[in-house]
Amino acid sequence: MSETDLPVPSVPNARDAVRALRPSQIREVANAGFGVADVLPFWFGESDRVTPAFIRDAASAALAAGATFYTHNLGIAPLRAALADYVSALHGTTSSDHIAVTSAGVNALMLAAQLVVGAGDRVVAVTPLWPNLVEIPKILGAHVETVALGYGERGWQLDLEQLLAALTPDTKMLLINSPNNPTGWVMSREEQRAVLAHCRRHGIWIVADEVYERLYYADAEAGAYSPHSRTAPSFLDLATRDERVICVNSFSKAWLMTGWRLGWIVAPASLMDDLGKLVEYNTSCAPAFVQQAGIAAVQQGERFTQELVLDLKASRDHLVRALSTVPGVDVKAPLGAMYVFFSMPGASRSLELCKAMVREVGLGVAPGSAFGPQGEGFVRWCYACDTARLDAGVERLKRFLAQHGTH
Ligand SMILES: Cc1ncc(COP(=O)(O)O)c(C=O)c1O
Repeated sequence: MSETDLPVPSVPNARDAVRALRPSQIREVANAGFGVADVLPFWFGESDRVTPAFIRDAASAALAAGATFYTHNLGIAPLRAALADYVSALHGTTSSDHIAVTSAGVNALMLAAQLVVGAGDRVVAVTPLWPNLVEIPKILGAHVETVALGYGERGWQLDLEQLLAALTPDTKMLLINSPNNPTGWVMSREEQRAVLAHCRRHGIWIVADEVYERLYYADAEAGAYSPHSRTAPSFLDLATRDERVICVNSFSKAWLMTGWRLGWIVAPASLMDDLGKLVEYNTSCAPAFVQQAGIAAVQQGERFTQELVLDLKASRDHLVRALSTVPGVDVKAPLGAMYVFFSMPGASRSLELCKAMVREVGLGVAPGSAFGPQGEGFVRWCYACDTARLDAGVERLKRFLAQHGTH
Protein backbone atom coordinates (compact mmCIF):
# COMPACT_ATOMS: atom_id res chain seq x y z
CA MET A 1 0.00 0.00 0.00
CA SER A 2 1.42 3.39 -0.90
CA GLU A 3 1.13 6.34 1.46
CA THR A 4 -1.52 7.98 -0.69
CA ASP A 5 -3.77 4.94 -0.14
CA LEU A 6 -3.94 5.62 3.62
CA PRO A 7 -7.31 6.86 4.88
CA VAL A 8 -7.66 10.66 4.85
CA PRO A 9 -7.80 11.94 8.45
CA SER A 10 -10.80 13.89 9.71
CA VAL A 11 -11.40 17.52 8.67
CA PRO A 12 -8.38 19.62 9.72
CA ASN A 13 -8.98 22.39 12.22
CA ALA A 14 -6.95 25.18 13.75
CA ARG A 15 -5.96 24.70 17.38
CA ASP A 16 -8.58 25.41 20.04
CA ALA A 17 -7.29 28.84 21.11
CA VAL A 18 -7.58 30.06 17.54
CA ARG A 19 -10.98 28.52 16.92
CA ALA A 20 -12.25 30.21 20.08
CA LEU A 21 -11.32 33.71 18.85
CA ARG A 22 -14.29 35.97 18.32
CA PRO A 23 -14.91 36.88 14.69
CA SER A 24 -15.29 40.60 14.02
CA GLN A 25 -18.86 41.77 14.45
CA ILE A 26 -18.05 44.92 12.50
CA ARG A 27 -17.25 42.68 9.54
CA GLU A 28 -20.52 40.86 10.13
CA VAL A 29 -22.42 44.13 9.81
CA ALA A 30 -20.38 45.15 6.77
CA ASN A 31 -21.20 41.79 5.16
CA ALA A 32 -24.90 42.45 5.80
CA GLY A 33 -24.42 45.61 3.73
CA PHE A 34 -23.08 43.80 0.66
CA GLY A 35 -25.51 44.26 -2.18
CA VAL A 36 -27.00 47.39 -0.61
CA ALA A 37 -26.39 50.24 -3.05
CA ASP A 38 -25.31 53.47 -1.42
CA VAL A 39 -24.07 52.56 2.07
CA LEU A 40 -22.67 55.41 4.18
CA PRO A 41 -19.87 53.67 6.09
CA PHE A 42 -18.99 55.02 9.55
CA TRP A 43 -18.03 51.60 10.90
CA PHE A 44 -14.27 51.48 10.47
CA GLY A 45 -11.75 53.57 12.39
CA GLU A 46 -10.35 55.65 9.61
CA SER A 47 -10.76 59.00 7.93
CA ASP A 48 -12.25 59.31 4.45
CA ARG A 49 -9.29 61.54 3.55
CA VAL A 50 -6.15 60.31 1.80
CA THR A 51 -2.70 60.48 3.49
CA PRO A 52 -1.20 63.99 3.12
CA ALA A 53 0.78 64.59 -0.07
CA PHE A 54 4.11 65.30 1.64
CA ILE A 55 4.07 61.78 3.09
CA ARG A 56 3.02 60.11 -0.15
CA ASP A 57 5.73 62.07 -1.98
CA ALA A 58 8.36 60.88 0.49
CA ALA A 59 7.34 57.26 -0.16
CA SER A 60 7.44 57.78 -3.94
CA ALA A 61 10.88 59.37 -3.71
CA ALA A 62 12.12 56.50 -1.53
CA LEU A 63 10.80 53.95 -4.01
CA ALA A 64 12.34 55.82 -6.93
CA ALA A 65 15.64 55.81 -5.04
CA GLY A 66 15.44 52.03 -4.64
CA ALA A 67 14.31 51.59 -1.02
CA THR A 68 13.10 48.08 -1.76
CA PHE A 69 15.29 45.95 0.50
CA TYR A 70 14.98 44.37 3.95
CA THR A 71 15.92 46.69 6.80
CA HIS A 72 17.14 46.20 10.36
CA ASN A 73 14.52 44.32 12.40
CA LEU A 74 13.99 47.28 14.71
CA GLY A 75 13.69 49.79 11.86
CA ILE A 76 16.02 52.07 9.91
CA ALA A 77 18.23 54.20 12.15
CA PRO A 78 16.98 57.58 10.84
CA LEU A 79 13.35 56.65 11.59
CA ARG A 80 14.21 55.38 15.07
CA ALA A 81 16.09 58.64 15.68
CA ALA A 82 13.20 60.74 14.32
CA LEU A 83 10.76 58.85 16.53
CA ALA A 84 13.04 59.29 19.54
CA ASP A 85 13.00 63.06 18.94
CA TYR A 86 9.22 63.04 18.46
CA VAL A 87 8.57 61.02 21.62
CA SER A 88 11.09 63.12 23.59
CA ALA A 89 9.32 66.34 22.59
CA LEU A 90 5.96 64.98 23.74
CA HIS A 91 6.89 62.88 26.75
CA GLY A 92 10.44 63.58 27.89
CA THR A 93 13.86 62.27 26.96
CA THR A 94 13.72 59.00 25.03
CA SER A 95 16.62 57.55 23.05
CA SER A 96 16.41 55.41 19.91
CA ASP A 97 17.55 52.47 22.04
CA HIS A 98 14.01 52.44 23.38
CA ILE A 99 12.27 52.59 19.99
CA ALA A 100 11.30 49.72 17.67
CA VAL A 101 9.53 50.26 14.35
CA THR A 102 6.65 47.86 13.72
CA SER A 103 4.20 46.99 10.98
CA ALA A 104 1.52 49.26 12.47
CA GLY A 105 -0.19 49.26 15.83
CA VAL A 106 -1.80 45.85 15.64
CA ASN A 107 1.56 44.18 14.98
CA ALA A 108 3.05 46.21 17.84
CA LEU A 109 0.33 44.83 20.13
CA MET A 110 1.08 41.29 19.03
CA LEU A 111 4.82 41.80 19.57
CA ALA A 112 4.23 43.31 23.02
CA ALA A 113 2.05 40.37 23.99
CA GLN A 114 4.56 37.86 22.62
CA LEU A 115 7.29 39.53 24.67
CA VAL A 116 5.43 39.27 27.91
CA VAL A 117 2.71 36.61 28.06
CA GLY A 118 2.45 32.91 27.45
CA ALA A 119 0.00 30.06 27.95
CA GLY A 120 -1.99 30.30 31.18
CA ASP A 121 -0.89 33.85 32.06
CA ARG A 122 -3.44 36.25 33.51
CA VAL A 123 -4.05 39.44 31.57
CA VAL A 124 -6.37 42.27 32.60
CA ALA A 125 -7.95 44.62 30.05
CA VAL A 126 -10.16 47.66 30.54
CA THR A 127 -13.24 47.39 28.32
CA PRO A 128 -15.24 48.16 26.17
CA LEU A 129 -12.26 47.80 23.90
CA TRP A 130 -11.22 47.35 20.29
CA PRO A 131 -11.40 43.55 20.07
CA ASN A 132 -7.85 42.99 18.81
CA LEU A 133 -6.40 43.91 22.19
CA VAL A 134 -8.41 41.26 23.98
CA GLU A 135 -8.05 38.54 21.35
CA ILE A 136 -4.28 38.82 20.75
CA PRO A 137 -3.22 37.48 24.18
CA LYS A 138 -5.70 34.63 23.75
CA ILE A 139 -3.86 33.49 20.61
CA LEU A 140 -0.88 32.98 22.93
CA GLY A 141 -2.98 30.96 25.37
CA ALA A 142 -3.30 33.71 27.97
CA HIS A 143 -6.42 34.19 30.02
CA VAL A 144 -8.00 37.68 29.75
CA GLU A 145 -10.05 39.21 32.57
CA THR A 146 -11.92 42.42 31.86
CA VAL A 147 -12.72 45.44 34.00
CA ALA A 148 -15.57 47.48 32.57
CA LEU A 149 -15.77 51.24 32.38
CA GLY A 150 -19.09 52.54 33.70
CA TYR A 151 -21.41 54.88 31.81
CA GLY A 152 -23.10 57.71 33.64
CA GLU A 153 -23.80 61.43 33.71
CA ARG A 154 -20.15 62.26 33.04
CA GLY A 155 -19.85 59.75 30.21
CA TRP A 156 -17.50 56.76 30.50
CA GLN A 157 -15.55 56.51 33.75
CA LEU A 158 -13.11 54.07 35.29
CA ASP A 159 -13.74 52.58 38.71
CA LEU A 160 -10.12 52.77 39.82
CA GLU A 161 -10.60 50.65 42.92
CA GLN A 162 -12.16 47.89 40.83
CA LEU A 163 -9.24 47.96 38.42
CA LEU A 164 -6.65 47.86 41.20
CA ALA A 165 -8.48 44.96 42.84
CA ALA A 166 -8.39 43.05 39.54
CA LEU A 167 -4.64 43.62 39.26
CA THR A 168 -3.72 40.76 41.56
CA PRO A 169 -0.04 39.91 42.17
CA ASP A 170 -0.31 36.95 39.78
CA THR A 171 -1.39 39.23 36.90
CA LYS A 172 1.18 39.34 34.13
CA MET A 173 -0.01 42.21 31.98
CA LEU A 174 -2.45 45.11 32.02
CA LEU A 175 -3.82 46.32 28.70
CA ILE A 176 -4.95 49.93 28.70
CA ASN A 177 -6.10 51.80 25.63
CA SER A 178 -6.45 55.53 26.22
CA PRO A 179 -7.85 57.50 24.43
CA ASN A 180 -10.13 54.54 24.09
CA ASN A 181 -11.69 52.90 21.08
CA PRO A 182 -14.72 52.74 21.16
CA THR A 183 -15.78 54.99 24.06
CA GLY A 184 -13.40 57.96 23.68
CA TRP A 185 -12.63 57.64 27.40
CA VAL A 186 -9.30 59.19 28.41
CA MET A 187 -7.47 57.93 31.48
CA SER A 188 -6.53 60.78 33.80
CA ARG A 189 -3.00 61.47 34.97
CA GLU A 190 -4.02 60.61 38.55
CA GLU A 191 -5.46 57.27 37.46
CA GLN A 192 -2.28 56.51 35.54
CA ARG A 193 -0.18 57.40 38.56
CA ALA A 194 -2.15 55.06 40.82
CA VAL A 195 -2.09 52.21 38.30
CA LEU A 196 1.64 52.60 37.65
CA ALA A 197 2.41 52.55 41.39
CA HIS A 198 0.27 49.44 41.85
CA CYS A 199 1.83 47.63 38.87
CA ARG A 200 5.33 48.54 40.08
CA ARG A 201 4.50 47.05 43.45
CA HIS A 202 3.43 43.74 41.93
CA GLY A 203 5.75 43.59 38.91
CA ILE A 204 2.86 43.75 36.43
CA TRP A 205 3.61 44.79 32.86
CA ILE A 206 1.63 47.72 31.49
CA VAL A 207 0.99 47.62 27.77
CA ALA A 208 -0.41 51.04 26.92
CA ASP A 209 -2.08 51.37 23.54
CA GLU A 210 -1.70 55.08 22.85
CA VAL A 211 -2.41 55.10 19.12
CA TYR A 212 -5.01 57.86 19.63
CA GLU A 213 -2.83 59.98 21.93
CA ARG A 214 -2.82 62.90 19.48
CA LEU A 215 -6.60 62.78 18.95
CA TYR A 216 -7.30 64.48 22.25
CA TYR A 217 -9.68 67.38 22.52
CA ALA A 218 -9.20 68.78 26.01
CA ASP A 219 -6.43 71.05 24.79
CA ALA A 220 -7.96 71.73 21.41
CA GLU A 221 -10.88 72.95 23.52
CA ALA A 222 -8.67 75.68 24.95
CA GLY A 223 -7.85 76.72 21.38
CA ALA A 224 -4.06 76.72 21.82
CA TYR A 225 -1.36 74.11 22.03
CA SER A 226 1.52 74.19 24.43
CA PRO A 227 4.47 71.83 24.00
CA HIS A 228 3.21 69.71 26.88
CA SER A 229 -0.44 69.56 25.99
CA ARG A 230 -0.42 68.12 22.51
CA THR A 231 -1.29 64.63 23.67
CA ALA A 232 -3.57 62.83 26.06
CA PRO A 233 -1.94 61.87 29.37
CA SER A 234 0.54 59.09 28.62
CA PHE A 235 2.23 56.47 30.76
CA LEU A 236 5.43 57.72 29.15
CA ASP A 237 5.03 60.98 31.08
CA LEU A 238 5.24 59.09 34.37
CA ALA A 239 7.28 55.95 33.79
CA THR A 240 11.02 55.65 33.42
CA ARG A 241 12.08 54.16 30.10
CA ASP A 242 13.50 51.04 31.72
CA GLU A 243 10.61 49.64 33.71
CA ARG A 244 7.79 47.28 32.82
CA VAL A 245 5.91 49.67 30.54
CA ILE A 246 5.50 49.09 26.81
CA CYS A 247 3.82 51.83 24.79
CA VAL A 248 2.29 50.98 21.45
CA ASN A 249 1.78 53.65 18.82
CA SER A 250 0.91 53.97 15.15
CA PHE A 251 1.14 56.24 12.13
CA SER A 252 -2.43 55.28 11.20
CA LYS A 253 -4.41 57.87 13.11
CA ALA A 254 -2.32 61.03 13.59
CA TRP A 255 -1.14 61.13 9.95
CA LEU A 256 -4.01 59.26 8.25
CA MET A 257 -1.79 56.31 7.25
CA THR A 258 -4.03 53.32 7.98
CA GLY A 259 -3.13 51.48 4.77
CA TRP A 260 0.63 51.90 5.19
CA ARG A 261 0.97 49.58 8.19
CA LEU A 262 3.57 51.48 10.16
CA GLY A 263 3.83 51.87 13.93
CA TRP A 264 6.27 51.78 16.79
CA ILE A 265 6.94 50.58 20.30
CA VAL A 266 8.58 52.43 23.17
CA ALA A 267 10.02 49.82 25.55
CA PRO A 268 12.91 49.16 27.93
CA ALA A 269 16.26 48.89 26.13
CA SER A 270 16.72 45.51 27.84
CA LEU A 271 13.90 44.10 25.68
CA MET A 272 15.21 45.24 22.33
CA ASP A 273 17.33 42.23 21.39
CA ASP A 274 14.44 39.88 22.11
CA LEU A 275 12.00 42.22 20.39
CA GLY A 276 14.25 42.17 17.34
CA LYS A 277 14.00 38.37 17.25
CA LEU A 278 10.22 38.53 17.45
CA VAL A 279 10.08 41.09 14.63
CA GLU A 280 12.30 38.77 12.58
CA TYR A 281 9.92 35.85 13.05
CA ASN A 282 6.74 37.89 12.52
CA THR A 283 7.44 40.29 9.65
CA SER A 284 11.28 40.70 9.59
CA CYS A 285 10.84 44.46 9.18
CA ALA A 286 8.44 47.18 8.05
CA PRO A 287 8.77 48.00 4.33
CA ALA A 288 11.78 50.25 3.68
CA PHE A 289 10.02 52.93 1.61
CA VAL A 290 7.17 53.08 4.12
CA GLN A 291 9.69 53.72 6.88
CA GLN A 292 11.13 56.59 4.81
CA ALA A 293 7.65 58.06 4.57
CA GLY A 294 7.37 57.71 8.34
CA ILE A 295 10.38 60.04 8.74
CA ALA A 296 8.55 62.70 6.73
CA ALA A 297 5.44 62.23 8.85
CA VAL A 298 7.13 62.71 12.23
CA GLN A 299 9.49 65.44 11.08
CA GLN A 300 7.15 67.52 8.92
CA GLY A 301 3.71 66.51 10.09
CA GLU A 302 3.16 68.49 13.26
CA ARG A 303 1.07 71.23 11.68
CA PHE A 304 -0.95 68.66 9.78
CA THR A 305 -1.74 66.72 12.96
CA GLN A 306 -2.73 69.81 14.90
CA GLU A 307 -5.08 70.88 12.11
CA LEU A 308 -6.47 67.36 11.89
CA VAL A 309 -7.32 67.45 15.60
CA LEU A 310 -9.20 70.72 15.18
CA ASP A 311 -11.11 69.30 12.19
CA LEU A 312 -11.96 66.14 14.11
CA LYS A 313 -13.11 68.15 17.08
CA ALA A 314 -15.42 70.16 14.81
CA SER A 315 -16.79 66.91 13.33
CA ARG A 316 -17.28 65.43 16.80
CA ASP A 317 -19.18 68.49 17.96
CA HIS A 318 -21.28 68.52 14.79
CA LEU A 319 -22.24 64.87 15.13
CA VAL A 320 -22.95 65.10 18.86
CA ARG A 321 -25.19 68.14 18.23
CA ALA A 322 -27.04 66.41 15.41
CA LEU A 323 -27.52 63.13 17.32
CA SER A 324 -28.71 65.02 20.40
CA THR A 325 -31.75 66.16 18.43
CA VAL A 326 -32.81 62.56 17.75
CA PRO A 327 -35.37 61.37 20.30
CA GLY A 328 -34.19 58.35 22.28
CA VAL A 329 -30.51 58.94 21.55
CA ASP A 330 -28.21 59.50 24.52
CA VAL A 331 -24.87 60.89 23.37
CA LYS A 332 -22.00 62.65 25.13
CA ALA A 333 -18.95 64.29 23.56
CA PRO A 334 -15.89 62.12 24.27
CA LEU A 335 -12.48 63.63 25.12
CA GLY A 336 -10.46 61.59 22.65
CA ALA A 337 -10.17 59.24 19.64
CA MET A 338 -12.53 59.55 16.64
CA TYR A 339 -15.78 57.90 17.66
CA VAL A 340 -19.00 58.62 19.46
CA PHE A 341 -20.34 55.65 21.38
CA PHE A 342 -23.99 56.29 22.08
CA SER A 343 -27.19 54.54 23.04
CA MET A 344 -30.36 54.57 20.94
CA PRO A 345 -33.64 52.69 20.73
CA GLY A 346 -33.01 49.05 19.79
CA ALA A 347 -29.34 49.12 20.83
CA SER A 348 -29.82 46.51 23.54
CA ARG A 349 -29.41 44.09 20.61
CA SER A 350 -26.80 46.19 18.85
CA LEU A 351 -25.64 43.61 16.30
CA GLU A 352 -29.19 43.02 15.03
CA LEU A 353 -29.84 46.77 15.08
CA CYS A 354 -26.73 47.62 13.06
CA LYS A 355 -27.45 44.92 10.49
CA ALA A 356 -31.00 46.22 10.10
CA MET A 357 -29.79 49.82 9.74
CA VAL A 358 -27.37 48.97 6.97
CA ARG A 359 -29.88 46.78 5.14
CA GLU A 360 -32.84 49.14 5.44
CA VAL A 361 -31.37 52.64 5.19
CA GLY A 362 -27.72 52.11 4.21
CA LEU A 363 -26.34 53.46 7.50
CA GLY A 364 -23.10 51.68 8.42
CA VAL A 365 -22.20 51.88 12.11
CA ALA A 366 -20.53 49.40 14.44
CA PRO A 367 -22.43 47.47 17.12
CA GLY A 368 -21.36 48.10 20.70
CA SER A 369 -21.21 44.36 21.32
CA ALA A 370 -18.25 44.18 18.90
CA PHE A 371 -16.23 45.72 21.75
CA GLY A 372 -17.17 43.11 24.32
CA PRO A 373 -20.32 42.39 26.29
CA GLN A 374 -19.77 45.64 28.19
CA GLY A 375 -20.37 47.55 24.94
CA GLU A 376 -23.84 46.09 24.42
CA GLY A 377 -26.53 48.77 24.39
CA PHE A 378 -24.37 51.16 22.38
CA VAL A 379 -23.43 51.93 18.81
CA ARG A 380 -20.08 53.29 17.57
CA TRP A 381 -19.94 55.97 14.88
CA CYS A 382 -16.60 57.13 13.44
CA TYR A 383 -16.89 60.85 12.72
CA ALA A 384 -13.63 61.30 10.75
CA CYS A 385 -15.37 62.71 7.68
CA ASP A 386 -16.98 65.92 6.48
CA THR A 387 -20.07 67.29 8.14
CA ALA A 388 -22.31 66.88 5.06
CA ARG A 389 -21.76 63.13 5.21
CA LEU A 390 -22.44 63.11 8.95
CA ASP A 391 -25.71 64.98 8.32
CA ALA A 392 -26.71 62.48 5.65
CA GLY A 393 -26.02 59.67 8.14
CA VAL A 394 -28.12 61.28 10.87
CA GLU A 395 -31.00 61.71 8.39
CA ARG A 396 -30.83 57.98 7.70
CA LEU A 397 -30.82 57.23 11.41
CA LYS A 398 -33.97 59.33 11.82
CA ARG A 399 -35.61 57.61 8.86
CA PHE A 400 -34.81 54.20 10.35
CA LEU A 401 -36.28 55.14 13.73
CA ALA A 402 -39.38 56.61 12.04
CA GLN A 403 -39.89 53.39 10.09
CA HIS A 404 -39.66 51.44 13.32
CA GLY A 405 -42.14 53.63 15.14
CA THR A 406 -39.65 55.00 17.65
CA HIS A 407 -39.51 58.66 16.52
C1 LIG B 1 -7.24 50.95 19.99
C2 LIG B 1 -6.50 50.64 18.74
N1 LIG B 1 -5.26 50.17 18.83
C3 LIG B 1 -4.55 49.86 17.74
C4 LIG B 1 -5.08 50.03 16.50
C5 LIG B 1 -4.20 49.61 15.39
O1 LIG B 1 -4.15 50.41 14.30
P1 LIG B 1 -3.07 50.11 13.20
O2 LIG B 1 -2.80 48.67 13.18
O3 LIG B 1 -3.68 50.60 11.93
O4 LIG B 1 -1.88 50.91 13.59
C6 LIG B 1 -6.38 50.49 16.34
C7 LIG B 1 -7.01 50.62 15.03
O5 LIG B 1 -8.15 50.95 14.85
C8 LIG B 1 -7.11 50.81 17.50
O6 LIG B 1 -8.36 51.26 17.44
